[in-house]
Amino acid sequence: MSFAAPPTPASDPHSGPAERARAAAPSDPLDPGLLERVEERLRAAVAADGLMGLASAHLLQAPAAKRARPRLFLAFAALAGDARAARPRADEALVAAAAALELIHTASLLHDDVVDEAGARRGAPSANARYGNSAAVLAGDLVLTRALGLLSFDAAALAAAIDVVGAMSVAAVREVEVRGVSALAPEAALAVAEGKTAALFGLCGRLAGILGHDDDAGRRFEEAGRALGVAFQIADDAADIETDLRERTPSHPILLAQAHDPDVAEALRALWSPPGVDAASARALASRIGGGAAVAGSLEVVAREIEVAARALAPWAGSLPHEHIFRFAATLSRRPA
Ligand code: FPP
Ligand code: MG
Repeated sequence: MSFAAPPTPASDPHSGPAERARAAAPSDPLDPGLLERVEERLRAAVAADGLMGLASAHLLQAPAAKRARPRLFLAFAALAGDARAARPRADEALVAAAAALELIHTASLLHDDVVDEAGARRGAPSANARYGNSAAVLAGDLVLTRALGLLSFDAAALAAAIDVVGAMSVAAVREVEVRGVSALAPEAALAVAEGKTAALFGLCGRLAGILGHDDDAGRRFEEAGRALGVAFQIADDAADIETDLRERTPSHPILLAQAHDPDVAEALRALWSPPGVDAASARALASRIGGGAAVAGSLEVVAREIEVAARALAPWAGSLPHEHIFRFAATLSRRPA
């Protein structure tokens, strides 16, 4: 899922962060110079010798990284500033906060791939597959501390980020606790999405309010960010049914399907029973769930959350950053191919 910038071909080995910043679409309201400063901050944040430097930079510098959270934050910051000028103030604090958001995301993925035992990420081997679990976990720790360090210039921003990292960790552990548990209501998946993904999207809004010294706007941005985060995660779940079945993750469309179709509930229970998941059965069940009403049900949740975001951001309707945010949102509600 892209955030307004054109996709960077993953196969192009020369397509690095600077190229990505320069490749911003002509109608992109985000200043490519500002995005390049964010990239510089990111490069500096993960500069370390040896294995630590390799493992930390591995995921952060992947060409397929979309920088969705810094872009969302900068769009909110543009709304908090002069929305008619359609770009945020080229402020050092904004650059630091945008970089911190990407680093928190990167740290969470480094840890998530260890937890999920994932072998690939962004079209390449995951950091844990390439450098081992120990290096990936410790690189995640380093990246997270660099993120929090970047926010230490503002006590409120730092406290908000610490809260969000806590919520993400609690949700990630909850996801581990319910692995393989099929008898859950679909709301259980929404609660995990709130903590795992929406909390960080909400922080994109909250930080724009804090740094723009506008509490009312910050509350609206946070609400919109959280709603877009739930939409993002549920859209991702709708696209990842087979993987989630294989990894025994009770995602939203899987729980919806089992709640409404007793045959799916029985097949799911059997799939997740010992001795282990059979890949062919997971593929068959994924195709059955994907062809049924559950995906449409999940996409209804996506649409509902986008409406929540639209109501929260209604005061800025018609501005370019607002258009930019909802162009991104529109990519979420399409049925996965
Ligand atoms: C990807 O989810 C993972 C997350 C959105 C967050 C995971 C959070 C933690 C591991 C807690 C630790 C947090 C920090 C900041 C160190 P997914 O598995 O649904 O998506 P995927 O298919 O892309 O892996
Ligand atoms: Mg994962």
